[in-house]
Amino acid sequence: MKKAWTSIVIGAIASTVHGSTIEDCLGYSASHVSHSSNGLVADLTLIGSPCNIYGDDLKSLKLQVEYQGDSRLHVKIYDANRQVYQIPESVLPSPPNNRGDPRQAALKFTYTTSPFSFAVSRSDSGDVLFNTSGSQLIFQSQYVRLRTQLPQNPNLYGLGEHTDTFRLQTNNYIRTFWNAESPYVPRMSNLYGSHPIYLEHRNSGHSHGVFLRNSNGMNIVINQTESGGQYLEYNTIGGVLDFYFLAGPSPTEVSKQYAEVVGLPAMVPYWSFGFMQCKYGYWDVNELAEVVGNYSTAGIPLDVLWSDIDYMDLRQDFTTDPDRFPIPKMRELVHTLHDRGQKFVMMVDPGIHRKGDYGTFARGAEKGVFLKAADGSYYRGVQWAGEVVWPDWFNPNTQDWWTDEFKRFFDPNTGLDIDGVWNDMNEISNFCGDVNCDPAQLAHDTNTPPPPSHPPRPNTGRPIPGFPSDFQPSSFRVRGRREAESRGTMKGLPGRNLFTPPYRIKNHVGDLSAGTVYTNITNYDGTVQYDTHNLNGLLMAAHSRVSMLARRPGKRPFVLTRSTFAGAGNKVAHWFGDNYSAWDDYRFSISQMLAFAAVHQMPMVGSDVCGFNGNAQENMCARWALLGAFQPFYRNHADISAPNQEFYLWASVTEAAKKAIAARYRLLDYIYTAMYRSSTTGSPIVNPMFFTYPNDANTFGIQTQYFFGDSILVSPVIDDDAQSVTIYLPDEIFYDFWTFKPVRGNGQQVTLNNVAYTDLPVYIRGGSIIPMRTDGANSTTALREHNFNIIVAPGLDGKASGSLILDDGESLEGRFSDMSFSWDGKEFRADGKFWYQANVQIETVTILGDEPVTKKGPWGLNKRFSFHS
Ligand code: NOJ
Repeated sequence: MKKAWTSIVIGAIASTVHGSTIEDCLGYSASHVSHSSNGLVADLTLIGSPCNIYGDDLKSLKLQVEYQGDSRLHVKIYDANRQVYQIPESVLPSPPNNRGDPRQAALKFTYTTSPFSFAVSRSDSGDVLFNTSGSQLIFQSQYVRLRTQLPQNPNLYGLGEHTDTFRLQTNNYIRTFWNAESPYVPRMSNLYGSHPIYLEHRNSGHSHGVFLRNSNGMNIVINQTESGGQYLEYNTIGGVLDFYFLAGPSPTEVSKQYAEVVGLPAMVPYWSFGFMQCKYGYWDVNELAEVVGNYSTAGIPLDVLWSDIDYMDLRQDFTTDPDRFPIPKMRELVHTLHDRGQKFVMMVDPGIHRKGDYGTFARGAEKGVFLKAADGSYYRGVQWAGEVVWPDWFNPNTQDWWTDEFKRFFDPNTGLDIDGVWNDMNEISNFCGDVNCDPAQLAHDTNTPPPPSHPPRPNTGRPIPGFPSDFQPSSFRVRGRREAESRGTMKGLPGRNLFTPPYRIKNHVGDLSAGTVYTNITNYDGTVQYDTHNLNGLLMAAHSRVSMLARRPGKRPFVLTRSTFAGAGNKVAHWFGDNYSAWDDYRFSISQMLAFAAVHQMPMVGSDVCGFNGNAQENMCARWALLGAFQPFYRNHADISAPNQEFYLWASVTEAAKKAIAARYRLLDYIYTAMYRSSTTGSPIVNPMFFTYPNDANTFGIQTQYFFGDSILVSPVIDDDAQSVTIYLPDEIFYDFWTFKPVRGNGQQVTLNNVAYTDLPVYIRGGSIIPMRTDGANSTTALREHNFNIIVAPGLDGKASGSLILDDGESLEGRFSDMSFSWDGKEFRADGKFWYQANVQIETVTILGDEPVTKKGPWGLNKRFSFHS
């Protein structure tokens, strides 16, 4: 292979080898085209001599085109010898080919023979959605390029994880996929997850989606040519081109079609919609109890308490610090929480302390589950515990070992009976990801041992409300141990293209192996981390899900993961990592949520409310407490170095949180029903404005307003320290969520003034029926005993409809009721399937309007009923 040097210029990759550039590569020509009833296959042969810029050109490729049903087209270009890496089916199964008839299909595939290019267009309108002509397909051993032309100023969404705008920038923009530890979630960077799916919405009101099933590192460049031609270009450092084109034509249909490709989202337990509190740095079990007690004293319902790595002994998974978090006391804490209807979630990291007498390591070593270096020794790195090894998730023994560890440590009878588990650092994050780093040395240098004994804790005699008397409030705070920390640019190893491939993606950490597991490490199945790196988080979380299920068979597992890949929503939930306590981060908590819930098919998502790093400021935290209550995953979490930010610490935040949680509780079954629809049909739990108004161009760029479910329009105050906000109200009748007063939207902007920090503008969309629980519950467990009030919000046509799912809130499979409600202007009807026996009733039905009318029940939730106005 010729020696290559590279330089990347955005949009024009100017790479030269002995005078030739990537633009001199001539592409491929198609031959032996063979048509079948639902597609075609063809050979693609390299034209001319190889240009070998970023590795060797592959001479023989295969093209496979499948009409996989009426609305999905599968186009795959791969090497004829099938040697190039493809995502293992065990990790992300390819969707079944529901053979479609090309004559009926919404999308049409056409191609040009030489140089080969292809286009995808709509069968009805002829609108060209994807067109690779004008630039050559390049398929080299370490670089695959495909460029599509796009219309001017396209409305593109998705391609996460990022903290950029929801509608993506279309000029000089690079989206890099390489999962990485990303403190402060930098803009214009790769972050923790990779979802190579975009949704494009056109002025016709139609959307389509394009998913590239490829886990390799890549840059997706969105830019314009010198002559102004808009394009989107895939530049991957490996893998094959495995495209799924999704026809829509509504944005919601694109989402649903994507769920058919990567899997429907996993249904989550009812309790996971409760409010959650966490902090890295809670000192001991008493402090955990104290936080719970403080919430209760403040009258703020807390559903779930989280414990970060603080609980661990020497930061080792599946252990507790014997002094600060002793097992008997932790068990008492968990029992007390459960008695109070609250839940408990603990962290489990992937880095396993490499220490002979550490049981988890010893048992894993015995089963041979850890990643190994080429010489057969353990591949070592540094994580919280010090020198660590990492599980090889491709090894079939790993699941057994992992489940066994879960069963031992989280045994309800002898251990900690957790309700959910939290997986972190699984990009994988390695504090020793530099070739000059010696894991043993770094671990030794940076991990000071814990203090041998603890200073006596003054006994204040003050009880913690709701906890046994042996729980005492902490009267002092001590910082956690000094953390291992090292970061730097890897220098690269000679002759190892797996370390420094000639085409460099724009990884914000530096080289591919920087801050992670080296990319030349071979997995159990023979794949290498170079190809599978972006799957690490998904694999870990999927294993945790299986282990949680083994602990509590039949119950929905709740697993939160930091790192994700396409399809992760099918198994787990995600939070957006280490954001900052700043207004900017408050704002993009919305755009991140929109991309994940509506495009990436990961509905159970949210940001660290009030921000992870830095000092949360009172007004911002009050606004965020309100906003978080109208997002799927609602957790306040902060770093060890950040001051405490529990909601009860400020009067205004307490007021905002009480109001927010009460509203969330009222809406909990509406939210839960939206989640159920998401997990059974793929309809998004959160809807960007243009999903609801696809023909209203004013909505295409909106990223600070959205619908929670189908009907609740959330329009938060957005600017720093502002008390007014300009919102967009589409041409529709709305009802103020707090007062039920009608508000006519005119397809115009409206400015709201004097919005207190304890207020959040929320509207009910006309045409909806919302089942609301009655007020006063102090947990989601208690909430399930509360009756319903049904709110009918007639649309401009005077009609409304809605639905309600009722089940036990935790079983994977079981009885449920699916009720439908309708109002035709005169008659209210409740109908549906009544398979679940809920011991609550509907107290009232209120028809909103200038003069709301309330009809008193009660009506049972076990049979249909109706009444006339
Ligand atoms: C990094 C995570 O993103 C953060 O949420 C957590 O608190 C720390 N690791 C410590 O476990």
